[in-house]
Amino acid sequence: MNTPIAIIGTGIAGLSAAQALSAAGLPVVLFDKSRGSGGRMASKRSDAGSLDLGAQYFTARDRRFAEAVQQWRQHGWVDSWHPVLYQSRNGALALSADEQERWTATPRMSALTRALLGGHQVHFSCRISEVFRGEQHWTLLDTEGNNHGPFSHVIVATPAPQASTLLSAAPKLAAVAASVPMEPTWAVALGFDQPLETPVQACFVEDSPLQWLARNNSKPGRQHPLDCWVLHATSSWTRQHVDSSKEAVTDQLRGAFAELIGCAVPAPSLSLAHRWLYARPTQAHEWGALADSDLGIYACGDWCLSGRVEGAWLSGQEAARKLLEQL
Ligand code: FAD
Ligand code: NAI
Repeated sequence: MNTPIAIIGTGIAGLSAAQALSAAGLPVVLFDKSRGSGGRMASKRSDAGSLDLGAQYFTARDRRFAEAVQQWRQHGWVDSWHPVLYQSRNGALALSADEQERWTATPRMSALTRALLGGHQVHFSCRISEVFRGEQHWTLLDTEGNNHGPFSHVIVATPAPQASTLLSAAPKLAAVAASVPMEPTWAVALGFDQPLETPVQACFVEDSPLQWLARNNSKPGRQHPLDCWVLHATSSWTRQHVDSSKEAVTDQLRGAFAELIGCAVPAPSLSLAHRWLYARPTQAHEWGALADSDLGIYACGDWCLSGRVEGAWLSGQEAARKLLEQL
């Protein structure tokens, strides 16, 4: 079979599907609206180096994913991260050490998807607006008015709200995707000239606008000239401030950080804010991946499973498996 398969989205789900299909000898062509791969595992370039503003780490609970992670570790793409872990409840900060293995890509989160991209053909900065089927094959239309194709099959590997429009040729799949609400998250990075005088390297937060904070420098392979921190707001705080300016959000989250961290927090010399509109599904599902095998169109992503990196990867594998069993 020479006609390639189109995959829309170069997050971990799309790349997981790409890897499984090309391992089976099938050609794939990937598309992403962004300038690089990673999606919500992307890292943002800054004067202090690349900072992980999206996914912070991942855990591996499923055997298949754990095996993939071990292979990535052997390639040097990921490493385990053992932060000095705290939790903050009602403003009280306490050590919260545990035995959980947590992984990060090195030296930045996006390095994993970059490595998984390998030699696949990919079109970046290419936002697909329509997916339609002719007599035998699929064609994609991008927002610049260019057609791409023909393709034998299509895998949509985007967040659910974006997938629902791309799945309009398969109304049942589109309806399922449209039924999945996704919550937003504001992320802020702060860089300080001098290291903050705290032992905290990561913290799960409750009862605050913040939900999580991490010292990016404590992750394996990061070498920032500043003491860099990443703060994530809760979904509910983000919803209430979804249209606030980056400056206002940075100020408020910096205030919440200073309140809970328990040491002096001077003015940062670097600050960045990023709004993730479709950060996480409101609940987990057990769909694996969606398929209309008669038409040859599939959908995958974290929203089909657990809303985590592991779920996204497993969903990509499942989309590929469903496609392969139809050949
Ligand atoms: P995505 O990564 O969203 O990839 C979808 C891709 O599709 C994107 O690259 C996008 O640009 C592209 N795309 C969308 N529409 C189009 C279009 N029309 N045309 C072309 N391309 C398109 N998970 C964890 O396990 N641990 C964590 O610590 C963690 N923390 C998180 C923190 C934040 C702030 C966020 C936002 C997420 C976090 N997650 C975490 C969740 C994790 O990042 C996701 O579950 C996972 O990365 C989703 O991968 P995906 O491939 O399904 O989707
Ligand atoms: P995990 O097992 O480390 O964490 C799962 C949850 O358990 C945490 O959110 C936290 O509430 C709790 N927890 C775990 N260890 C703890 C400890 N030592 N002390 C106190 N609480 C602890 O990781 P898992 O299951 O892989 O989840 C991934 C992480 O990604 C979660 O923290 C989740 O909130 C986060 N995430 C964030 C998103 C966002 O938009 N901000 C989107 C998707 C995931």
